Amino acid sequence: MSGCLLRYAADNEEDCRLLYNWRNDAEVRKNSFHQEEIAYEDHEKWFHAVLKDPNRRIYIMMARDIMRSFPVGVIRADVDGDEAELSYSIDRDQRSKGYGTEIVNLASEEIPFDYPDVKKLTAKVKTDNTYSQTIFVRNGFFPAKRLPEYILYLKRL
Ligand SMILES: CC(C)(COP(=O)(O)OP(=O)(O)OC[C@H]1O[C@@H](n2cnc3c(N)ncnc32)[C@H](O)[C@@H]1OP(=O)(O)O)[C@@H](O)C(=O)NCCC(=O)NCCS
Repeated sequence: MSGCLLRYAADNEEDCRLLYNWRNDAEVRKNSFHQEEIAYEDHEKWFHAVLKDPNRRIYIMMARDIMRSFPVGVIRADVDGDEAELSYSIDRDQRSKGYGTEIVNLASEEIPFDYPDVKKLTAKVKTDNTYSQTIFVRNGFFPAKRLPEYILYLKRL
């Protein structure tokens, strides 16, 4: 998978809508810990608050074809001390093409530059979300804790 890059989410209507549509996707909600559908006004408030929060960062992954560059997925880092917790999703029409593996790879490289104090990356993956479990293992994470609802994946930087 070459030619993908991460950019920061911009404080504009386009990125706000993009993330809203991804957040309300059925598969994303199923694999999330907050499954209810979200109203756009609530999402807007959340989006602006996250962009202002120095401990949270939203990255959008852009892919390229011969004509254009286009957004394929999102990954968010929630930083607390030396730890950054990741959550991510890939556009429904772009799944099973390796983008999920690549977005975690790029975020693992980028986050230590943005947050030099971060020494651990973590992610809570639901027990039945085997695609995402594969992605974390492939990216050098290991299952640090197994709970009935989720597995906590960890990577030390
Ligand atoms: C989970 C998710 C991010 C995976 O993204 P993706 O771009 O489809 O993942 P990849 O293409 O990198 O696939 C990774 C692996 O998952 C498995 N996989 C993915 N799609 C598959 C499919 N349709 N059938 C079987 N296995 C599949 C494969 O093992 C694949 O590796 P391979 O292509 O070498 O066989 C995506 O499905 C998604 O956005 N789901 C909803 C949100 C979510 O679950 N986020 C993660 C929360 S922890």
